[in-house]
This record gives sequence, C-alpha cells and structure tokens, in this order.
Amino acid sequence: MTAGALASARALLQKARSCVVLTGAGMSAESGVATFRDAQTGVWSKFDPMQLASREGFEADPAFVWRWYSSRREKVAEVRPNAGHFALAGLERRFSPFAIVTQNVDGLHTRAGSAGVLELHGNLMRTKCFAECGVRIDKLAEVPAGEPPACPACGQWLRPDVVWFGEMLDPSVLDDAERLAARCDVMLVVGTSGMVYPAAGLPYLARRSGAKVIVVNPNPSDIDDCADVLVPDTAARTLPKLFEAT
Ligand code: OAD
Repeated sequence: MTAGALASARALLQKARSCVVLTGAGMSAESGVATFRDAQTGVWSKFDPMQLASREGFEADPAFVWRWYSSRREKVAEVRPNAGHFALAGLERRFSPFAIVTQNVDGLHTRAGSAGVLELHGNLMRTKCFAECGVRIDKLAEVPAGEPPACPACGQWLRPDVVWFGEMLDPSVLDDAERLAARCDVMLVVGTSGMVYPAAGLPYLARRSGAKVIVVNPNPSDIDDCADVLVPDTAARTLPKLFEAT
C-alpha cells in the first residue's frame, strides 16, 4: 500500500515543474515537537487553546501565557530538524517555483536550510507588541526581561509573534501562499490535520486550479478527500524516499 502510493507520488513529482509544500505539526513530530490534536500527546489535549492561544487568554494571565511560550521556545531550541525537513531543504533547485508554506512556528524548516519559508502562523522565536504599536523583535537575546516584558516603544506587554485563535494571518504571507497554491503543478501536504483555516484551504485551491495533491500523514486527515495520492506514513520516513528518484 505505502510502496504503491510512494511510487505514484514520485511519478507526480517527476512530471511537475513547480511544487508547493504545506506542512503542519506532524512535520516536526519526529523531531520531538508535540502535535496539537493527537488525543494522548497533543498540546491541546493537555492545555486549553483559548487560555494559551487567544488575546483574551493572554489578557487574563499574561505571566502564565508568557512562561508557557518560554518553555515551548526552550523545547524547540533543544530539538533538531529531522530527515523530512532536510529532504525538503534539498528541493529548491529541482522545482521552479518551489515554496514551503508552513503552519509551524518552530522555525525547523529554516534551520534545515530552506530559504524563504512562508510561515502562516508566525514564529515562536519572534516577539511583538501586544498593542500592535509596530515593535517586532526578531532575536530572543534582544527581548527585555520580564514576564511578560514591556514593549520598549509603548510600554504595553510584549507577546510571541504567533497567530492566535481569532486573529488574522499576515495578509501578505497568505496572499503569497494562495498565489503559489493557485499556480503549482503539485502540492505536497505533510503532517496536518487540515482542521485550521485558511491554511487547510490551500490544497483545495491548488486542486481547483489544476494541481495534483499528495498527502503524507500516517493517520486520516480532513484533507484526504482532496488527495490524488495518499501516503500513509510519517514525514521523516517518507520525504527522503519521495525525492530519491526525482
Ligand atoms: P494537528 O495537531 O492538528 O495535526 C497534526 C497532524 O500530523 C495529524 O493529522 C497527525 O496524524 C499528523 N502526524 C503525526 N505525526 C506525524 C508524522 N510523524 N509525520 C507526518 N504526519 C504526522 O496540527 P496542525 O494541522 O499543524 O495553530 O494544526 C494546525 C494549527 O492548529 C497549528 O498551526 C496551530 C494549531 O492550533 C496555531 O498555532 C495558530
């Protein structure tokens, strides 16, 4: 089953000139970063997303939320990209255009060597002003002390530069992702449950626009109905094999 699916996926990639990859939390699972919706180990099985991933939750207890993101940052700093991230990083010259669009905030694609990754949900290592005064701090070492720290420009709280529930995605990042999705020959979807929009709409947009869609996920996902080929295996096992012969 997996061997046949792999062969079909490889054949689609061999024929393609352009490729967009959409990744979700499963992409980083084999690096040791927990997914969100796994029933036992998922982040949202242990924590309330409205407390930890909404403006209201942050306002209710900013110190608690800041500390929780600090512990996530520490965890992500300890882990390494996996074989799947490295396989994708080797692809930039094989396709034109080629793009990685990720829902992940862990920065592991960039650490694996991918350039120009479109981070739909922001980045855990960046910090911005809660009052949106325009301050954004890219380097953790430059974030002032405090739980949460005060914005150096306006004195409001600083917060992680990630997209919380109820917030808009950066329109320029989303526009770029949609433009690429609407023009690619193949969209490769890796490790997402397909439950969070607008990210989950990208494979459907690609498919409507004539692309072939490959889904890599060891479990069923909400995007399976959009897939031309389903590879029921993990990212780190599948991705290196997928590109061996392309
Ligand atoms: P989910 O936790 O919803 O889904 C993770 C998916 O990865 C599931 O479908 C798993 O079956 C699959 N998976 C698990 N291990 C895998 C592996 N080793 N290889 C491949 N796939 C594997 O995570 P997302 O779909 O990314 O939002 O969630 C979307 C958004 O919801 C996240 O970006 C986050 C969350 O709330 C924000 O942070 C804004």
